[in-house]
Amino acid sequence: MDVEGKRILITGGSSGIGLATARALVARGARLVITGRRSGEVDAAVEDLRTGGADVSGVSADVSTDDGRSTTLHGAMRALGGLDILMNNAGAVRAGRLDEIREDEIRAMVEVDLVAPILLTRAALPALKAEGGGMIVNVTSGIALVAMPFYATYAAVKAGLASFSESLRRELNGEGVHVLTVYPSGTDTPMMATNKAGADVGFSLEPAAAVAAAIIEGIEQETIAVVRGGPDRQAMIDLNRRDPLALDARFLATKSAFEEGVKSHDAM
Ligand SMILES: NC(=O)c1ccc[n+]([C@@H]2O[C@H](COP(=O)([O-])OP(=O)(O)OC[C@H]3O[C@@H](n4cnc5c(N)ncnc54)[C@H](OP(=O)(O)O)[C@@H]3O)[C@@H](O)[C@H]2O)c1
Repeated sequence: MDVEGKRILITGGSSGIGLATARALVARGARLVITGRRSGEVDAAVEDLRTGGADVSGVSADVSTDDGRSTTLHGAMRALGGLDILMNNAGAVRAGRLDEIREDEIRAMVEVDLVAPILLTRAALPALKAEGGGMIVNVTSGIALVAMPFYATYAAVKAGLASFSESLRRELNGEGVHVLTVYPSGTDTPMMATNKAGADVGFSLEPAAAVAAAIIEGIEQETIAVVRGGPDRQAMIDLNRRDPLALDARFLATKSAFEEGVKSHDAM
């Protein structure tokens, strides 16, 4: 899909991967609405993106609530007059032992990372279908392909979103609406600020701009998936399919250090 002039809604577009993708899209002449809960962050991002005269608006709303989703979609339709691409990108994570994570934090991850993209997509489908050539971009995570320890709920909801995305792609196949699933690996964004795990336990971060460039390529080429993390991550994905116990042994060898590094990871 050529993104020039396309009307695009990016949830969580005020920060990180969403903001980097917004930057790359306005450089190609797309029209955008970006969202987030904190209005100050949304306003600052809109101002930044408008430099050079781009058509960008912001909506401050919580996509984990019915009202917030309604505000988000109506705000986008009002500003753009229609919708060509919905990018479900807003997300939240809380790592740690399952029995040390509060129930409200578990429910919040389910709502933001899984229920919100499903219901927002459902609400946006008529507008996307009306254009005859729409696209849905679901930002899940590499954890959907290899579930790391101490991220049980986050892994579950991101795997759920990946399956939702795959099924919907096949449901809409031949009907003009394409579905692209994005699996970022560790990315240098505010979401990772509280994650202290390092290279010793296999963590590395790439710039959000690199993920954004891959997402743009995925949209333009209409591929079905963007998987980040390079050859090492791909080898891990392959091993997890072929010999999951070998990967269990690898995680066991670094388990204490891994837990120590990720237990502070809190981006809700
Ligand atoms: N960074 C990584 O290493 C990584 C790896 C794999 C997958 N991902 C996924 O990539 C996506 C983007 O993450 P990021 O790293 O770019 O994070 P980020 O920099 O923290 O940005 C998250 C964005 O989502 C918004 N948001 C969060 N909860 C929201 C809610 N309930 N309603 C509306 N907006 C909400 C945030 O704004 P407010 O806080 O103001 O609401 C912000 O704009 C997420 O789905 C994440 O799970 C990230």
